[in-house]
Amino acid sequence: MDPIPPKPSEDLSARGYELLVKAVVDYAIYMVSVEGRIVSWNAGAERIKGYSAEQAIGQHLSMFFTEEDRAAGRPAHLLATALATGRAQDEGWRVRRDGTRFWALAVMDLVHDEEGRVIGLAKITRDMTERHDSELQLQELRAQLFQAQKLEALGQLTGGMAHDFNNLLTVIIGASALAARTQDPKRLKELLGSIHEAGLRGSHLTQHLLSFARQRDQQQQLVELENTLHSAQMFFTQALPKGMSLELQLCPPLHPILVDPSQLEMALLNLIFNARDAMQESGTIVLRAENRHLQGEWENLHGDFVLLTVRDDGVGIAPEILPRIFEPFFTTKGLGKGTGLGLSQAYGFIRQQGGTIRVDSTPGAGTSVTLCLPARPREAH
Ligand SMILES: Nc1ncnc2c1ncn2[C@@H]1O[C@H](COP(=O)(O)OP(=O)(O)OP(=O)(O)O)[C@@H](O)[C@H]1O
Ligand SMILES: [Mg+2]
Repeated sequence: MDPIPPKPSEDLSARGYELLVKAVVDYAIYMVSVEGRIVSWNAGAERIKGYSAEQAIGQHLSMFFTEEDRAAGRPAHLLATALATGRAQDEGWRVRRDGTRFWALAVMDLVHDEEGRVIGLAKITRDMTERHDSELQLQELRAQLFQAQKLEALGQLTGGMAHDFNNLLTVIIGASALAARTQDPKRLKELLGSIHEAGLRGSHLTQHLLSFARQRDQQQQLVELENTLHSAQMFFTQALPKGMSLELQLCPPLHPILVDPSQLEMALLNLIFNARDAMQESGTIVLRAENRHLQGEWENLHGDFVLLTVRDDGVGIAPEILPRIFEPFFTTKGLGKGTGLGLSQAYGFIRQQGGTIRVDSTPGAGTSVTLCLPARPREAH
């Protein structure tokens, strides 16, 4: 039997488009009146929402919204936005006919006739439930990874801290023994002063360690970087070998930023550990903080930012591996030495913040990695 010949393309008239829209099954495509009543319905709408054309046409589109959204006036708000601006977009839970929910990505556009009068709105909805679910799983995985990384970093820090605690205890034991023997009130006061100071430093260290270890949800807070970086310097220095130091270069007054401080600390620690690994036994790592106003020169970012740069004069990064260093699990360190997750944590964090990260490296001369974080304007007084 001969196949039916295709129709000439002129036949794809308005009627053809109507048939096309009706046949699309992956998208719900339908028209609503300016009041939000459903005027037309396609196969995708029936498949996604579970209502037939007879059941849907004439109803108000708010019937697809959850009760909470209806109570909050979300359908009316969407309609009003589309009527005022020509378009409205929304993402959220919707309800099928059988009462189950699906995650919808919806767009609404105004439709005009030839004379420019508004005749209704075209609405396109896509069922994104699967993607939404896999994104949630990914978020969960990221959170687990973050906790695991933190524990590992904690192990390295406590190693350094045990040593430091020992030093503090030596001061306390020595000074208290001397204090017990001395008759000189001035000397006694000095010795008690050292004991007090060593005690304070020890308690500061434990507090810091505890707050770093605590499992928390993302907790954004306004961070004044001067304080955070000073205490981070003390803390991170514990994790460096004897011959290495961490120098702070602050250019105050730094803009405040809105971040989860434990994620920021983790990102800085990952950069500092990389700098440590890139240098031999000794050297200085510089942690620099400065404000910068960007006008699109970095990844099209505009506005006020704070740049946090970690610089080392270590081995540097070969140009051929530079494009790969942010990949999760990419590492050039031997088995058991690196997981390849340090920079991917820093990258994930900075993306979440709406900033960017830059790397400049010269093999044999050193590397600097810059976190670029959006600033929060100071409250006007
Ligand atoms: N400051 C640096 N100097 C030289 N190479 C670097 C520097 N920072 C990163 N790299 C390179 O990028 C790779 C990936 O870094 P990343 O921090 O993601 O993982 P890692 O340090 O290998 O492992 P982990 O951080 O999990 O211990 C490193 O293995 C190294 O080759
Ligand atoms: Mg690393």
